[in-house]
Amino acid sequence: MKHKSKPKGSVVAALDIGSSKIACFIARIVDDEGNFEVLGVGHQASQGIKAGSVTDLNAAEGAIRQTVHAAENMAAEAMKGYPLREVVINVPGVHARSHNFTVDVDISGQDVTDNDVRRALAKAQGNAVSGDFELIHTIPNTYTIDGNNGIREPRGMFGDVLEVDIHLVTGDTSALRNIATCIERSHLDIGALCEAGYAAGLASLVEDEMDLGCTVIDMGGGVTSIAVFYGGALVYCDAIPVGGQHVTSDIARGLSTSLSDAERLKVLYGSAVASSADENELIDVPQIGEDQQSHPNHAPRSLLVGIIQPRLEEILELARAKLNDSGAGQFAGRRVILTGGASQLPGLRDLGQMVLDKQVRLGRPIRIDGLAESVNGPAFATTAGLLTYVSERSDEMPAAIVAQVEPGNMFERVKFWMRDNW
Ligand SMILES: Nc1ncnc2c1ncn2[C@@H]1O[C@H](COP(=O)(O)OP(=O)(O)OP(=O)(O)O)[C@@H](O)[C@H]1O
Ligand SMILES: [Mg+2]
Repeated sequence: MKHKSKPKGSVVAALDIGSSKIACFIARIVDDEGNFEVLGVGHQASQGIKAGSVTDLNAAEGAIRQTVHAAENMAAEAMKGYPLREVVINVPGVHARSHNFTVDVDISGQDVTDNDVRRALAKAQGNAVSGDFELIHTIPNTYTIDGNNGIREPRGMFGDVLEVDIHLVTGDTSALRNIATCIERSHLDIGALCEAGYAAGLASLVEDEMDLGCTVIDMGGGVTSIAVFYGGALVYCDAIPVGGQHVTSDIARGLSTSLSDAERLKVLYGSAVASSADENELIDVPQIGEDQQSHPNHAPRSLLVGIIQPRLEEILELARAKLNDSGAGQFAGRRVILTGGASQLPGLRDLGQMVLDKQVRLGRPIRIDGLAESVNGPAFATTAGLLTYVSERSDEMPAAIVAQVEPGNMFERVKFWMRDNW
């Protein structure tokens, strides 16, 4: 299905609250193909966030505020001094869940219209309402008309009963509420929410991959998010509460070094696969609490790689198990796209290929122009994808669907779900 995008020239803003970094992109839509030009960027190390959850409201709020200010300042001229009001935010994969529903609506021998599809989506949403979960995405997957299944685009076709297979993504209310509190305190509104792995895919996949089926694995600092695309749509998402920070703490523990030295060693010398040269190469490992000058310590690089590899293998194996157990693997095709900061370890592609038995490539944002080198890598796929989501996929936003099916229900009232609920 072709999604309707926001008009050319619209300005949109994304706020990606990660376990390792917080990033804000403000961008302008430059064409009808869903491409952006960046106007402002802010990013800094996360504070008060652990494995996708807020652990310190004040610290998280402060970091969010600073990040947004930096992006606003950079975009000030283009925004003519207007402050940013609304952002689209990520829902960490660990707080999201996939649900599949099939619902039917009566079309009484008429042709299927946009509104019939929306009625079906609204019906599924009605069935799924619960206090513990918030609806994040309502995504139609395939359609059946009078028993003929596998229809991708039903609009214009005739029949009596339209059935829609719908993928609903819900988010954990209490986790989202904490994130929302930080954002409200920063005087921002949440315009939309998007699951992190979904966003990473929207930023980094080419259309054929989304159509034919593929899996995105976004390895962040504290969370590894999995998103399966098929038929141009998200058909499954899940997550594992493990990421690059776990690799770093394994190194710190294994080599008796500080977390900051472990992080540095990982980035400088780390690898996901061993090579024969590793045995002979010695690296300098500062010992925790020791003076480096008087107690120099050297370790073979193979020791470092031997710590990194099993943890990455574990993450990939857990991802494989999720795909198999959920049945989503059958849609996922042969391709895997790795994003997230932790995907940058050399050799991860090969390791992924081995563990997942699929073709693996590294992904990064491909739809946004003018990003500096430091913010156009795989760690920023989710951030960039939030922009694509808000500009192109309003037809998957639960509140927008309700508002269109019940025009009496004022959009403003339902637009921002938190205002209604809390
Ligand atoms: N060059 C590099 N090589 C290996 N790992 C790296 C590199 N650069 C960053 N990382 C790792 O990437 C991780 C951060 O990734 P990312 O910025 O995608 O996380 P996040 O979005 O903040 O967190 P999450 O999505 O898990 O909440 C850190 O664990 C960091 O160690
Ligand atoms: Mg992330």
